[in-house]
Amino acid sequence: MARLTTTYPTTFTFLFLSLLLSSAATAVDPCSSSTSTDDPTRISVIPIYSKCCPVSSPAPPPPHPSSLLDTVNHLAARDHARVSSLISPTAAADVPIAPGKQLFNIGNYVVRVTLGNPNRTFAMVLDISNDLTFVPCTPCSGEGCSAADPPLAFFDPNASSYWAYDCPSELCSHVPGGSSCPAGKCLYNQSYGGDSHFSATLGTDFLFLGGYYISGFAFGCVHSISGGSIPAQGLLGLGRGPLSLLVQTDQLYSGVFSYCLPSFNSYYFSGTLKLGPIGQPKFIPTTPLLKNPHRPSLYYVNMTGVSVGSVKVPIPSKSLGFNPKNGAGTIIDSGTVITRFVGPVYAAIRKEFRKQVKGPFSSLGAFDTCFAANEDAGAPVITLHFQGLDLVLPMENSLIHSSSGPLACLAMAAVPKNVNSVLNVIANLQQQNIRVLFDEKKSVVGIARELCN
Ligand SMILES: *[C@@H]1O[C@H](CO)[C@@H](O)[C@H](O)[C@H]1NC(C)=O
Ligand SMILES: *[C@@H]1O[C@H](CO)[C@@H](O)[C@H](O)[C@H]1NC(C)=O
Ligand SMILES: *[C@@H]1O[C@H](CO)[C@@H](O)[C@H](O)[C@H]1NC(C)=O
Ligand SMILES: *[C@@H]1O[C@H](CO)[C@@H](O)[C@H](O)[C@H]1NC(C)=O
Repeated sequence: MARLTTTYPTTFTFLFLSLLLSSAATAVDPCSSSTSTDDPTRISVIPIYSKCCPVSSPAPPPPHPSSLLDTVNHLAARDHARVSSLISPTAAADVPIAPGKQLFNIGNYVVRVTLGNPNRTFAMVLDISNDLTFVPCTPCSGEGCSAADPPLAFFDPNASSYWAYDCPSELCSHVPGGSSCPAGKCLYNQSYGGDSHFSATLGTDFLFLGGYYISGFAFGCVHSISGGSIPAQGLLGLGRGPLSLLVQTDQLYSGVFSYCLPSFNSYYFSGTLKLGPIGQPKFIPTTPLLKNPHRPSLYYVNMTGVSVGSVKVPIPSKSLGFNPKNGAGTIIDSGTVITRFVGPVYAAIRKEFRKQVKGPFSSLGAFDTCFAANEDAGAPVITLHFQGLDLVLPMENSLIHSSSGPLACLAMAAVPKNVNSVLNVIANLQQQNIRVLFDEKKSVVGIARELCN
């Protein structure tokens, strides 16, 4: 079990003693985005399938342009479980998942996070819809510990200044899904990606991220994994609940962060994550950030409509409505691959899109509106309307190409069929080369086009 040191808080207090801005210049990293080298608070966001991803070893071969659609379809295979777990965290375990080895690791983007003293760096999955950061720890039991591919990277709590929280405690009671107190330590169970379950101890240690040391950072030390695998080097939780990085670092970052995801085509490039209010775009269009008590960790926005070309798609207002009772509404997520609309919304968009593009239409994986790519010059622009803000999607964010096909597909889908979901999810593919800014204090989300690579 973890060592007890006297310098750590025993109650629901977070200490930010040593907020030392690292003066060490970041070494030139061929994989970092061009903007991240001069500013340590600009953190590289690395696509999991890219050349630069430290998790995949050896690095995956560069995707042939014609296989981009396959790549996206592979990645999107997990959307089903993801969307299910977002709307109902407990239902995820019941969702059937295709068995067999996943071609890609869980999660789509990683950021480098350094933990502990002595320290170790982990490439953690960036997840804005989960609160609690976790990392695989030694000792680890269960089939998920050794069978993982890529192999897990373990944090050794005994070799570090890690300290497990006492239980019962207020902090421990904030663990989403509940906790228990065997031997006076805070233990919790969680499912991930629908088919994996793990047990972890809630503890605390130093975290170094974006040029700052954060002392007393609370995270889960995973000791048992069953039924599948978890992100090989852990997960960085940027959700909105009490245990998220943002709430823990509130005094430092004021609940503000933004990210810009690179293009799916950018094998060699990364995007950026920027924590805190300093250096954020000043004149960015914003829409209100809504909080849904049914799912308080999620970033809800008020989507009011969708246009296909110049046509405002007729959508029953009920299908987009925000409902605190059942969690209905629209969220922005960093872990779902393809934007998912609830049935009636997607059906209306598809109907109008098909009206404006020459068929015939076929299906390919997650996509049901594929057509001859030579018709794509005439494909209509898709605009997502939010309260106070219109997001005109770049073509790259609304159409996906298969040159082997040669097909182009409308790069959106309905919420998976056997999910009784009321949630629209704005996903990665639609966020390529867009900066999304979250400001919990001002309760706004800013969205603007930016070249992220
Ligand atoms: C960690 O330290 C505790 C207490 O000293 C000990 O009981 C435990 O076996 C150690 N774990 C490992 C993996 O060394
Ligand atoms: C990690 O540890 C090494 C070796 O002690 C040290 O040189 C480095 O500065 C540490 N990095 C961080 C971010 O603390
Ligand atoms: C977590 O799972 C283990 C084993 O399945 C069980 O013994 C334990 O009670 C669970 N703890 C919580 C907090 O649900
Ligand atoms: C969403 O925006 C519309 C249009 O501005 C407004 O009428 C509605 O009240 C908003 N909904 C919420 C939940 O704020």
